[in-house]
Amino acid sequence: MDPAYINQMKRLMDWEAGRTAPPKAFPKLPDMPAGRYTSQEYYDLEQQYLWKKSWLFAAHTDEVPEPGCFMKWEQVGDPIIIVHGMDGDVRAFYNTCRHRGAPVVTEEKGKAPRLICGYHNWTYKTDGTLVGVTEKQDFPPDFDMSCRNLIPVRCERLGNLIFVNFDAEAMPLKQWLGPVWDEWEEFQFDKIKLAARYSFDLNCNWKVAMEANMEVYHVPFIHPDTVAPLVDSKRNVNTIYPNGHARMLAPAPQQTDREHVRAIDSPPGWQSMDTVGEFGRTCTQSYTMFPNWVSPLSNYFVPPLIFWPTSLNTTRLELVTMALDWGDAPAPDLWTVPDESKPNGRNMSPIILEDTQFGEMIQKSMESDGFKSVPLSYQEARIYSFHQNCDKMIGLNRVPEHLAVEQVIGDDWVYPNDPRVAEMGQLEAAE
Ligand code: FES
Ligand SMILES: [Fe+2]
Repeated sequence: MDPAYINQMKRLMDWEAGRTAPPKAFPKLPDMPAGRYTSQEYYDLEQQYLWKKSWLFAAHTDEVPEPGCFMKWEQVGDPIIIVHGMDGDVRAFYNTCRHRGAPVVTEEKGKAPRLICGYHNWTYKTDGTLVGVTEKQDFPPDFDMSCRNLIPVRCERLGNLIFVNFDAEAMPLKQWLGPVWDEWEEFQFDKIKLAARYSFDLNCNWKVAMEANMEVYHVPFIHPDTVAPLVDSKRNVNTIYPNGHARMLAPAPQQTDREHVRAIDSPPGWQSMDTVGEFGRTCTQSYTMFPNWVSPLSNYFVPPLIFWPTSLNTTRLELVTMALDWGDAPAPDLWTVPDESKPNGRNMSPIILEDTQFGEMIQKSMESDGFKSVPLSYQEARIYSFHQNCDKMIGLNRVPEHLAVEQVIGDDWVYPNDPRVAEMGQLEAAE
């Protein structure tokens, strides 16, 4: 980040702490309909459009480390395989044999130079090309194998992170991320390793679960001993990016020495990224990558929380920790702790337990007549902007009026635009 921008953000932090009302240019946010969290109609629209058109974090290259390695991936329902090709490229395909639809891969993970369907042994190269049809003489003489390769799914990388997109026409991942792609360069995505990845099932709509991580309004109340000592929520600055992405950036409370806290929290061996700038070292910054990734980023970790709908009122939460290196120390895991009684041997960490504690009860309330709509404050602008983008991805003409949010946060609030800067300048000039 350039020094002028850093300086501007610091001034904005102080300005946010001092203001006594929302910024003058900030629109009044209309209530959001409860049906966005409870209606099958909206859920079906999300399934059909939002999840099929967005870039989705699927895997880390450490999960398919060598040529021939493959893994199943079914977080959006459709059966997909991620394949590290013998030629070195990582690709994604439907795990669907072009003969009669059997899976070409049945193990969760594996390694093979060819993918061979277990039903009648049709054989594919790791780039998806169909190269073997058993007893081919019994198909017509003009049977064209070349049009029966595995069907690809768009697959692009941000360093070691593998993203997929079901939409063949989708913009490239780099364009999808826009300015966020550049801001993330300091976090060495091409070098970070996968340290931990666990998933947990939650009993609420995926947006209810995710929104617990998209504002800092709640921090003093549900995280008094965990997050609050590190985050001065009054000094938080939200930034809205194109395509539904957003960032929070908050300094530590002035009485907290954040580097000191980090030094206590970070066991020896966890390597700090020396490319990470001032904010990554001294502030809490967390990015929402539309639609379902929320991650703080610091010089020690890239630890995303990923939210997948498993039904209208259930969610799978993936808790991932990635880091540069940890030497001989145990792999860092920011979000889970050992628990012998759990199937995967882990439980959610105290912070995640705090953030997920109300989900099931909120969902139950939202489904009752006691809940009508959601009024959001300026502090919760990232949530509203996220909902605007959900509707945009679905298509504004497809969302019925009783389920839609009004598109009131305009491009004047989307980075690099920021009406607060002018308002702050006027205030400073007047002082
Ligand atoms: S379904 Fe795969 S070979 Fe027949
Ligand atoms: Fe939280």
